[in-house]
Amino acid sequence: MQPGQRREAAILGSGAFLPEGVLGNAELEALVDTSDAWILERTGISERRRAGAGETASVMGWQAARRALRAAGEPQVDAIVVATCSPDSLLPSTACLIQRRLGLPGIPAFDISAACSGYVYAVAAARALIRAGSATTVLVVATEAMTSLVDYGDRSTCVLFGDGAGASVVGAVPEGGIAAVRWGADGSEADLIYYGPKAGDPASGNGLRMHGKGTFRIAVERMTEIAELVCADAGWSAAEVDLLVPHQANLRIIEAAAKRAGIPMQRVMVDIDRLGNTSAASIPIALAEAEAAGRLRPGDRVICVAFGAGTTWGGMALQWNEPGAR
Ligand SMILES: CC(C)(COP(=O)(O)OP(=O)(O)OC[C@H]1O[C@@H](n2cnc3c(N)ncnc32)[C@H](O)[C@@H]1OP(=O)(O)O)[C@@H](O)C(=O)NCCC(=O)NCCS
Repeated sequence: MQPGQRREAAILGSGAFLPEGVLGNAELEALVDTSDAWILERTGISERRRAGAGETASVMGWQAARRALRAAGEPQVDAIVVATCSPDSLLPSTACLIQRRLGLPGIPAFDISAACSGYVYAVAAARALIRAGSATTVLVVATEAMTSLVDYGDRSTCVLFGDGAGASVVGAVPEGGIAAVRWGADGSEADLIYYGPKAGDPASGNGLRMHGKGTFRIAVERMTEIAELVCADAGWSAAEVDLLVPHQANLRIIEAAAKRAGIPMQRVMVDIDRLGNTSAASIPIALAEAEAAGRLRPGDRVICVAFGAGTTWGGMALQWNEPGAR
């Protein structure tokens, strides 16, 4: 980039880390009153990853960050933004713990709490820093140890979530990259998904709680709306989108939102069958997997959409860049 040149933001390197531990539907059958057939039919999930001892959000996020930095050609990083709702601890931030492992002292590092929309929020913040000229390269990490929040006595939620991390190096480019971003929230829907005891049952202990049906309906509506809005912002028709990378909440949510947005499932990235819902990490993991599988080539038009607790939502339209390109 030359001084005074127009600055856009682009993803210049992607990475993911998945813990080796696998939690299959058969193991859940042994924990709660459920069945492989029910989980598969209602969610599309066969198995999810489960972090082992010591595999905290910061450890997984650090691994994903290393891979993304390597893919981007080891650029100098100006800021670290981490999206997580399952941090190692309340303080210090998971961003600072990842910063320590990466050996990048001195630059700003902070967490964003926006649940399943966290990655889009973090990229939105990174893009704003880059376009304002406050940073040239921002490391965005989304990392979740969701199974540590799950109540394995609550069958309506415990079947959904898995662990993992994804990272993106977001850097300044003269053109292309992230063409449009939308993000929003509605705190009046805060009780839809939360961490705590079951409503009306303070003795039930803390866990991830969710009104499944209400969440399902709103998730489909918002993800469809956001996909349409970012497409319109970017000046693209649905037919021009090469790949939709949605938050992996439930296969039926993904199918319904894609259908309403007019994007056929052949052009939708899906890995929920193997990974479940990894909250903020789901989109960057899916991006890294899509790139590794040859489903993302330079110039491709990509839409990402997310919805989560808060409620929060976000989406972006981006043109895929050559890894490490400037
Ligand atoms: C959770 C979810 C899979 C439940 O599917 P659903 O079709 O809506 O099912 P319902 O909640 O209406 O429950 C139907 C029945 O299945 C039961 N059920 C719930 N979980 C079950 C399980 N794991 N195994 C077997 N039965 C289950 C319910 O208890 C209910 O039984 P009842 O009729 O006897 O009361 C679905 O609502 C969902 O995916 N919601 C969105 C979740 C999500 O994506 N959240 C994160 C957003 S970021």
